[in-house]
Amino acid sequence: MSVVDDAVALLEPKLGGRVDLAIVLGTGLGGIADLAEDAVSIPYAEIPGFPRATVSGHAGRLVVGRIEGRRVALLQGRAHYYETGDPSGMRTPIETLSRLGVTTVVLTNAAGAIDKVMHPGHLALISDHINLAGANPLVGDLDDRRFVPMNDAYSPRLRARFKRAALQCGARLHEGVYCWVSGPSFETPAEIRMLKALGADLVGMSTVPEVILARRFGIDVAAISMITNMGAGIDGSVPSHGETKTVAGAGAIALKRLLLAFLKGLDDV
Ligand code: HPA
Repeated sequence: MSVVDDAVALLEPKLGGRVDLAIVLGTGLGGIADLAEDAVSIPYAEIPGFPRATVSGHAGRLVVGRIEGRRVALLQGRAHYYETGDPSGMRTPIETLSRLGVTTVVLTNAAGAIDKVMHPGHLALISDHINLAGANPLVGDLDDRRFVPMNDAYSPRLRARFKRAALQCGARLHEGVYCWVSGPSFETPAEIRMLKALGADLVGMSTVPEVILARRFGIDVAAISMITNMGAGIDGSVPSHGETKTVAGAGAIALKRLLLAFLKGLDDV
């Protein structure tokens, strides 16, 4: 049995039925799991192959419950490349979700804004990404499924649904290109200027490996950034993890509203 077989064997009986969709909750956003009704909560530490939470602002727990009539798996916390140097830390959770029947994942994160129309507390839909960390979670895979096309990696159908949900709930939703950097140090102002020249609107230390893994396992992806700060040097900005957690926590209310509206109308598009 593989570690994924073990994780599936543990989770299947606990979850009591089909899971429609998964949401990965980024730094400071874990409280969104409170939306789940009749919830089952399982610490990552009990699930084979799930990451150990080492980052403050991440609980390290899988919560499965009902939101707007759908069974949703909420992942409170993720593995980051910067914790171990391994970009495939979310492989087992994502493959396990796929084995449990999940075909849609919504990834959330905290990000710095490079595009000046975006400000702390705003939400942004990710339309595409730039992998500047240079790592890839599929390195070492041997079969041809490693050659994953990344066109429309962020599902146009789900993005349209999120834009409609934003209109329905009155949330302001930007859209832009997310650049993945390894972290854990923040960028220099010169790097932020370079990322802008490369076409990035947002910068962050997560999400991209999960997008690659999800596409590898045939899962449709949407991703939303909570802007927690302006990129380093923009209007004098000096990013910090403390600010990331505080601003994300405060902005989580708007993200909750958006996710509820999204889940409510999921079949409309
Ligand atoms: N840079 C990288 N990652 C981040 C930032 C940032 O400015 N803000 C939140 N996560």
